[in-house]
Amino acid sequence: MCGIVGYVGSHVDGAALDVVMEGLARLEYRGYDSAGVALVADGTLATEKRAGKLENLRQAIIDHPLPPSSTAIGHTRWATHGGPTDTNAHPHRGGADGKLALIHNGIIENFHPLKERLVADGVKFLSETDTEVAAQLVAREYEADRDLTQAMLRAVAHLEGAFTLLAVHADSPGVVVGARRNSPLVVGLGDGENFLGSDVAAFIGHTRHAVELGQDQIVTITPDGYDVIGFDGEPTEARAYEVTWDASAAEKGGFDTFMEKEILEQPHAVADTLLGRVDPAGRLVLDEVRIPEERLRAVTRITIVACGTASYAGMVAKYAIEHWARIPVEVSLAHEFRYCDPIVDENTLVISISQSGETMDTLMAVKHARELGAQTLSICNTHGSTIPRESDAVLYTHAGPEVAVASTKAFLAQITAAYVLGLYLAQLKGGSHAEQATTILAELRGMPDKVQTVLDRMGRVKEIARFMADTRSVLFLGRHVGYPIALEGALKLKEIAYIHAEGFAAGELKHGPIALIEPGQPVFIVVPGPDTPHDLHKKVVSNIQEIRARGARTLVIAEDGDEEVVPYADEVIRVPHSSPLLQPLLTVVPLQVFALHLATAKGLDVDQPRNLAKSVTVE
Ligand code: G6P
Repeated sequence: MCGIVGYVGSHVDGAALDVVMEGLARLEYRGYDSAGVALVADGTLATEKRAGKLENLRQAIIDHPLPPSSTAIGHTRWATHGGPTDTNAHPHRGGADGKLALIHNGIIENFHPLKERLVADGVKFLSETDTEVAAQLVAREYEADRDLTQAMLRAVAHLEGAFTLLAVHADSPGVVVGARRNSPLVVGLGDGENFLGSDVAAFIGHTRHAVELGQDQIVTITPDGYDVIGFDGEPTEARAYEVTWDASAAEKGGFDTFMEKEILEQPHAVADTLLGRVDPAGRLVLDEVRIPEERLRAVTRITIVACGTASYAGMVAKYAIEHWARIPVEVSLAHEFRYCDPIVDENTLVISISQSGETMDTLMAVKHARELGAQTLSICNTHGSTIPRESDAVLYTHAGPEVAVASTKAFLAQITAAYVLGLYLAQLKGGSHAEQATTILAELRGMPDKVQTVLDRMGRVKEIARFMADTRSVLFLGRHVGYPIALEGALKLKEIAYIHAEGFAAGELKHGPIALIEPGQPVFIVVPGPDTPHDLHKKVVSNIQEIRARGARTLVIAEDGDEEVVPYADEVIRVPHSSPLLQPLLTVVPLQVFALHLATAKGLDVDQPRNLAKSVTVE
């Protein structure tokens, strides 16, 4: 996710640039694909930005030195709208004179209509980003009274979505203005200098005095102080605190591991993946669709190709797409796809799911599908990566960069994107399918809060994990969409805790795996909600009874209010109620937390497990 730094000091020397570059380096852990800075000096604005690593930006500044300055902003970008290029990198300039510079973290949901209006007013855009719209809006408002804070206040009134914005103007030296809605921003307080950052890592090398900003607030920093107002224009109090981390912990945002940080980011990953998906007419939108709607309407079958965790997201997608859009879906491990002589034609949509967008097995499956004449659509978390480039259409997940090898937040974002796609296809079908899509979409928007509820309840799961550090084998059972979640729970444990773990479809138990059950065998059971069709709940409760009778230790994940499981559960882990198809977003979370804390209790390297790589670029 993008990193943001802002600085004002009282001396006009090279310090502003140095502070901002150092801050960007400390924010590198957030992951990025391009970087840039803007400085205010002598009534002018100087900017430099480059795709790729910070080193590219450093070299560009050596080649074209920037003037000494006391006021600067800097940005590391994780592309969402527009690929990772020099032009799309931030800062973006605003105004006919280009004297304003703005950086942004988040997604401006309504940037399309705003851009159309600005273009109609004669504004010229250089990039494909949503950010440039904000830059032009703030610049236009600045012309009214030449007050950067008031300009930001008026501009944010037009914006929907999630954003942290920082702006500087050539005519306002010694001032940086920030705004925050559903995206992070903190203030750092120095002596004759002040800072802004996506998190305290940005300025931890200079000060530990920080100020927390609330939602919908605007902050103005100068060398001597800071002011905070709400989006209603009223002054507001902000809480000051002391940072207790050291610089190295700050690199993981204060968490011990990236995996823990990423698990906790999941409500945002789901919410951000849903942002900007509905156009003003209420229709779902995908990111890049180079397939005509008639072709998509003509799709008679879907094949999903993916590997590892992404393939389990694909299995969840199968249940959802078949139910909502009534199109048959097959899920194929990408590395098996080519070799099973797939039945694919121009009416087949091949959907690849990949966090990195670089997994060679998945890429080769996509290429093969295209050779066979299929339409290809990529669900991917990484802009500018190879798989989306090789596909006819793209639906980006907005989980932000995932650093830990074991996938967590990308998985939730992949499932969310698959839901969006299923609902989109249902909308294309029209009629009752489209009506149902609208209802489900409304429920989907409430899922980030429910994911947060699950995260808030994880105390007991962490305890259980710690007690089980010596466990040698764990089984996972689920049915319907709970089945891929059982597989994912087992995979997480194998990947990071090196424990033998298996996931089964609960109904398959009696056909073999039940022989594995002996006294004390821990078994997680993902229980469908009591209102799941076909009496599925009752059937899973029976499965729990069967294994309990044979001595299994049952760790039951069940909905709030489901009392039928209680007599047969050694532990009940509660998740909020949801529609059956949306439940995976909730039930997988305790399994991730369990694996994380068990691996931690064993003293293992959670983020970089042995023998595994984040991005597997060989077949
Ligand atoms: C590797 C990783 C897994 C990941 C899989 C697919 O095996 O270790 O965590 O699920 O690749 O990666 P992708 O980037 O294509 O989602």
